[in-house]
Amino acid sequence: MRVTIIGTGYVGLVSGACLADLGHHVVCLDTDENKITKLKDGIMPIYEPGLEELVKRNAQAGRLTFTTSFADGLPGAEVISIAVGTPSAADGSVDMRYMDSAAKMIGQNLTGYAVIANKSTVPVGTAERVTSIIRVLTRSEFDVVSNPEFLREGHAIFDFLKPARIVIGSDSARATDVMRGLYAHIDCPKLCMQTRSAELTKYASNAFLATKISFINEVAHLCEMVGADADAVALGMGSDPRIGKEFLRPGPGWGGSCFPKDVKAFLKLGEAHNHPMPVTNAALAMNKLARSRVVERLENELDGLAGKCIGILGVAFKGNTDDTRESPAIDIIRHCVERGAKVTVFDPQARAVLELHGFDVPHAASVYAAAQDAAAIIIATEWEEFRTLDLEKLKQAMTGALILDARNLLDRDQAEKHGFKYLRVGRG
Ligand SMILES: NC(=O)c1ccc[n+]([C@@H]2O[C@H](COP(=O)([O-])OP(=O)(O)OC[C@H]3O[C@@H](n4cnc5c(N)ncnc54)[C@H](O)[C@@H]3O)[C@@H](O)[C@H]2O)c1
Repeated sequence: MRVTIIGTGYVGLVSGACLADLGHHVVCLDTDENKITKLKDGIMPIYEPGLEELVKRNAQAGRLTFTTSFADGLPGAEVISIAVGTPSAADGSVDMRYMDSAAKMIGQNLTGYAVIANKSTVPVGTAERVTSIIRVLTRSEFDVVSNPEFLREGHAIFDFLKPARIVIGSDSARATDVMRGLYAHIDCPKLCMQTRSAELTKYASNAFLATKISFINEVAHLCEMVGADADAVALGMGSDPRIGKEFLRPGPGWGGSCFPKDVKAFLKLGEAHNHPMPVTNAALAMNKLARSRVVERLENELDGLAGKCIGILGVAFKGNTDDTRESPAIDIIRHCVERGAKVTVFDPQARAVLELHGFDVPHAASVYAAAQDAAAIIIATEWEEFRTLDLEKLKQAMTGALILDARNLLDRDQAEKHGFKYLRVGRG
């Protein structure tokens, strides 16, 4: 099948490379010339395990090409997948400018029947919106379907090729058949539903996962007060298959490029329909609390933070990425700085704290340099290397002996054996 993917970011590039690997002929189209030039030269614009090899193999086989030209990239495509960014606007609604612009370019360059599949996460009603933009610009037949993507950065190739389900929202039988053909070689349930249901499925999924994390954090805070252990409680709860073990790890809250913007967009949708959405609102409020609670515990332990040196380990929103968007670590840094602490950070990959977030905090060259003269350290991101800290070396670097482990990575006994006072989320 001939496929064109508009937007060559995390979702578009991974989808394009995987579809090519399944035997389709794929054109990846992006307006970012720099990105396309790099890809033509075999240089990956993003870090994703296994992606470089997959892209090179399929480019060499002639199944995967790159372009910035809609006039070259669209003619002949049976499926045109849109995977452009849909960031939050200032008021929390979705900024649709990239989606609208892609739709316009499709309308101007369509030469025959194609299924236009929205892979971007978009508000309910977007398929109709895209249809009306295209319809006034072309005489060609087309259908717009919703085909939301559920892949996770860091596991994107596996998630694309072995998904739990593929959601196809289509109000046209012809388009549904084309989409089934596109995914014929992926062995998973294909859930066909109306377009609006598919659009809402993506937001509802992300809001539910965020709520699950907020719930376990609420439980964890209670555990700290009543003398229970949140990890044990989570295991006890999660062993019930109706609950499940995933997304029950207490910590400093959820962040990243998807959950915060999608939860906000979900709430905006409710607001537009005068639907109060108390559950999701509570999940959002709990997420703010989870971040500030880390710093409040530190403040209580140290009897105020003014003038105290604090080492913060981790800036990225999760391990294995340099992505700091909506990272809990960023809020933890902000709270510490606002309370007058002298903060030094270390992250193995995420270094653009000052440039992106405006904090004038030094970025140390190692964990131990970040801990130098610190009264306490906070573990804010679950990097694998933080699990195996040299606690003796850490102790020697610090003037104090407090570890606040917001990711529950360390072993309490080991930390205490080295003379640390050790606090983790969900243990008093
Ligand atoms: N990143 C994830 O983990 C993930 C997972 C599931 C769904 N999503 C959703 O998928 C969508 C894309 O996310 P992403 O992370 O891949 O974004 P991204 O920012 O990595 O990539 C978007 C790309 O679209 C390009 N673009 C913008 N406007 C364009 C246009 N008019 N024509 C051609 N290209 C254009 C940009 O240059 C950029 O390369 C979003 O709606 C996001 O919410 C993301």
